[in-house]
Amino acid sequence: MTDSKTDRPTDDAPQTETGNRLFGRRKGRPLRKRRTSLIEDLLPRLQIPTPASGGSLIPASLFATPTREVWLEIGFGMGHHLAWQARHNPDVGIIGAEPFLNGIAGLLGMVEDENLGNVRIQPDDARPLLDALPDASIGRAFVLFADPWPKKRHADRRFIGPENLPRLARVLKDGAELRLASDDMGLVRWMLEHTLKHPDFEWTARRPSDWRIRPDDWPATRYEEKAIAAGRKPVFMRFVRRPRR
Ligand SMILES: C[S@@+](CC[C@H](N)C(=O)[O-])C[C@H]1O[C@@H](n2cnc3c(N)ncnc32)[C@H](O)[C@@H]1O
Repeated sequence: MTDSKTDRPTDDAPQTETGNRLFGRRKGRPLRKRRTSLIEDLLPRLQIPTPASGGSLIPASLFATPTREVWLEIGFGMGHHLAWQARHNPDVGIIGAEPFLNGIAGLLGMVEDENLGNVRIQPDDARPLLDALPDASIGRAFVLFADPWPKKRHADRRFIGPENLPRLARVLKDGAELRLASDDMGLVRWMLEHTLKHPDFEWTARRPSDWRIRPDDWPATRYEEKAIAAGRKPVFMRFVRRPRR
């Protein structure tokens, strides 16, 4: 389902288990033996029960030990950023949503090797998960190097935009950070335009270094490494969810 030259999703739009159209790939190369056993044995233990909509999923209840906050990463790819955050923030529960099976297996491998107890996974589209979360229940959200969908007629497939910003605004706590990154300037402009227009978000950048330089508590993702290797300069954006009145 990806273009072998660009590693970008093709136009095929499979259905997710929750019946939504998903604009990306679910399967890539066949899973190797360890990855298959991670999907079959470890995933069921970490998988978020099929989210019911209506804000009824209490995120803190997903974790065996008390959590200071729950954070959410949407489209975690191979899971390196999510695993880093889990490793460096053991008192935070981290939920990742990603439908791509090889990526899920990659994250599961790190969870198993490092015994990370604070990770839970929605192995599917993030949108039903967002709808299942209560208002103001998430302390930080990451959407890093989302698929850019460069053709104009596909703009509505971009994750950050008019469809999903209200979902994120609803679940984020007052003052929570929303972190976005991309190496695609068309997508950067689009995300900025829509996020700045949204009344609940404020961009924290005051000077160019605030969006040109990745902060220390924000490790590189696989797509960022690829972008830099190809000579592209990523943009790192931090927004805060304005306090509710
Ligand atoms: C370009 S990749 C970036 C992966 C990773 N964040 C990185 O920077 O390496 C975008 C990822 O978003 C995932 N994705 C796309 N739509 C999604 C959705 N609705 N819910 C969750 N993940 C999604 C794709 O499966 C893909 O793995």
